Amino acid sequence: MSSKSIIITGGAGFIGSHLVRLFVNKYPDTRIINLDALTYAGNLENLKDIEKTPNYIFEKADILDTSALEKIFSIYNPDGVIHLAAESHVDRSILSPLDFVYTNVVGTVNLLNAAKKCWNGDYNGKKFHHVSTDEVFGALGETGFFTEVTNYDPHSPYSASKAASDHFVRAYHDTYGLPVVITNCSNNYGPNHFPEKLIPLFINNIINKKPLPVYGDGFYTRDWLYVKDHASAIDLVYHKGKAGDTYAVGGFNEWRNIDLVKLLCKLMDKKLGNAEGTSESLITYVKDRPGHDRRYAIDASKINKELGWKPTVTFEEGLAKTTEWYLENKEWLENVTSGDYQQYYEKQYEKSH
Ligand code: NAD
Ligand code: DAU
Repeated sequence: MSSKSIIITGGAGFIGSHLVRLFVNKYPDTRIINLDALTYAGNLENLKDIEKTPNYIFEKADILDTSALEKIFSIYNPDGVIHLAAESHVDRSILSPLDFVYTNVVGTVNLLNAAKKCWNGDYNGKKFHHVSTDEVFGALGETGFFTEVTNYDPHSPYSASKAASDHFVRAYHDTYGLPVVITNCSNNYGPNHFPEKLIPLFINNIINKKPLPVYGDGFYTRDWLYVKDHASAIDLVYHKGKAGDTYAVGGFNEWRNIDLVKLLCKLMDKKLGNAEGTSESLITYVKDRPGHDRRYAIDASKINKELGWKPTVTFEEGLAKTTEWYLENKEWLENVTSGDYQQYYEKQYEKSH
């Protein structure tokens, strides 16, 4: 094996686990170090199939722990960092904003410092890829798209913390010359998605015949991308993206929440052998999310034109694969929804009816 190594942070989470699997299998000569604190959202079960692969290494560490970071960077002397570790759920950011400031802002700066110290000005062949979100751009009206040059206008503590982290990443490029790239992606969906987010939460509630809590009027719009397509975009940008550049990534796939929920209900009824309308009858309109962004949509033409990326999985295929995965992995769902999950659920939804 060559001495090349890449640290992927947050590799035990939803998107991180798909990215780690892609890199471990596609780059057998590169050591892939999954650096993750294993919060409620991190789960090594997500990586069971590759955990014994020779080029895969797991390091349990918190990005708030600067001495742990320094040690890991000095052991592996990485050529690159792909940074996904974050607090990622908007509703949790409304309940505890400071957790998001610590992990998403301070944690990102700690990681930038660790990379800067380790590389010590020799940036040849090095890359720091920061994985960010389209939520930093705020909300769109009925028309238009976010692009790489859209002004930042975050509304939730989550998006404000991700916006701050993006600014720090750019500042380290402009001030210290750190070779950074940033991707701002739209809503992902797919297997291993933690059931606090819309699609997996509703799949889990349909399975358990629980109400489906639609926020506000349900006419909020998101642009959905299958998680493996996001992983392939990160792969391309990490390897071919220009230092200092930003790439917007999206699915060209806008859905109003209520339309998506109804489609999901139909699909689940078919798979569960339910009478038509069974799952739709669980839809319950609840109090809106404060600061709720009306519409997100990405114009992903830059990454398409410059790097040749485009989504490969249609929404129909992706949703079919996703629902099948959850139905075949009920034990995974049961494991992640025991314990603390119940307390979060009660706090978030009891008061919203
Ligand atoms: P996730 O919540 O599923 O996973 C986050 C991972 O980070 C977990 O494994 C967790 O253990 C780890 N982590 C959290 N705090 C940590 C800390 N202090 N130190 C080390 N590890 C820590 O998140 P996700 O949905 O996979 O998102 C991954 C990244 O992609 C995030 O940065 C998020 O902002 C971004 N993103 C997500 C989406 C989406 O739709 N999910 C879209 C665009 C961008
Ligand atoms: O756009 C990218 C972002 O997408 C990522 O940066 C975030 O990490 C990720 O969580 C996601 O954020 P959203 O807030 O868009 O995702 P969520 O699944 O929480 O909500 C999707 C939409 O569904 C949103 O309009 C709120 C609504 N919703 C969500 C939940 C959890 C409901 O109506 N009911 C719910 O119970």
